[in-house]
Amino acid sequence: MDLSWIGYLRPSPTTYWTELATVLNINLDSPAFFADPYPFYAKLRSDAPICPLMSGIWLATRYQDANRILRDARFGKDFLAGVARRYGKEAVMEPAFQMVNRFMLLMNPPEHTRLRTLVSKAFGVKQAPELRYLAQRETHRLIDGFINSRRADLVNTFAYPLPVRIICALLDIHLEDSLRFLADTQALVKVFELSPIGADEIDAANRASHAFDRYFREICRERRKNPGNDLVSLLLQAEEGEDRLSEDEIIANMALLFLAGHETTANMIGNALLTLFRHPDQLDLLRGNPSLLPQAVNECLRYETSVHIAARVAMQDVAVGMVTIKQGETVYINLGAANRDPAVFKEPERFLIERAELPQKPLSFGGGMHYCLGARLARIELETALDALLRRLPELQLENIDHPSWKPTITIRGLAHLLAHW
Ligand code: HEM
Repeated sequence: MDLSWIGYLRPSPTTYWTELATVLNINLDSPAFFADPYPFYAKLRSDAPICPLMSGIWLATRYQDANRILRDARFGKDFLAGVARRYGKEAVMEPAFQMVNRFMLLMNPPEHTRLRTLVSKAFGVKQAPELRYLAQRETHRLIDGFINSRRADLVNTFAYPLPVRIICALLDIHLEDSLRFLADTQALVKVFELSPIGADEIDAANRASHAFDRYFREICRERRKNPGNDLVSLLLQAEEGEDRLSEDEIIANMALLFLAGHETTANMIGNALLTLFRHPDQLDLLRGNPSLLPQAVNECLRYETSVHIAARVAMQDVAVGMVTIKQGETVYINLGAANRDPAVFKEPERFLIERAELPQKPLSFGGGMHYCLGARLARIELETALDALLRRLPELQLENIDHPSWKPTITIRGLAHLLAHW
């Protein structure tokens, strides 16, 4: 079926994404779509690579387009402009929007370059062996807690708590405190929702940003008095020439580390486990040769990544393929679809942990100036989690691997539950 017309249409209030799904007989709300969105993405990649989703919003699915948009300075971020469009000009002053707007993830140069340089200095002090030590310590403590139960939901008992414990260890804050404000991060993250959220949700996000602010301001005060080797102390000390991070910047970017480092990694641990157990030959290969672990993690990240969408706004009119993205319009870059582009990856639908080093890297951690700051830590967490589970639970069996409970979300891909016994 020729769907190439979709790539060339000007956007209108109609959602072509929905129309396309109707043409292809795919129900985008159905569990079947969330179980396997890849055939739909393959169709988009071949027939409508820059697909208009709705007025002023496009979806890019090919690797080359995705990679180019991520690295092209003519595309950037405009968080507060989007807030003003959705909620009106006054809303930009709401504390939650103001805090999120200080996330480096949502900044353009030169502000982004400055923040990223300073935060990277602090983050860079933490060398791989120390990160690995922390990851191993927290992983084994967690497994100690549930190993005797012989059955568990690995999403709730393992994948979700693990990254939180590791970030807490890095910041040197009490786990009990972090559990308290994990609910706050969930309230705060709602401000990223593409469809407008209600006034009550904005209020909850504002309360969360205040709670964050109070908590971390106190931590900053304490670490100024008694500096340690934790990330908060390192952020307070980070300097570039005369330049330092303000306390507001530190607080906002600590919230970012929680948001960016938690859901992403938690979902990726679940996706990686499921993928390995769905491919028993590859799992046996890994069990027989644990030195394949870094490659196996890479392949899990390519094949079933947890972050499927990154967004950019055109700062000026830009031609991409056969379409022109007008200034102010948004492109959603589908990283999950790009990672399975046959123009770049040989036999992309196959999960092969021994793939030769790829000339072009999967886009799971993005690309260009916003390339994931936590990529090194995320790889260490994934390697440690898989290694420890496979070694300590040699009888591990996952249940329902043919019909796992995928969450009904497109931006973040992950499992609601992953029942297992051993
Ligand atoms: C498997 C786990 C992870 C995945 C798949 C992932 C994915 C991504 C992606 C795709 C981006 C780029 C977003 C964009 O271009 O708009 C990003 C940015 C970022 N990530 Fe991650 N991430 C993971 C884990 C982490 C961890 C563990 C941390 C830190 C604790 C972290 C911190 C960040 C930060 C701070 C940014 C913003 C960088 C910037 O704007 O310069 N991420 N991540």
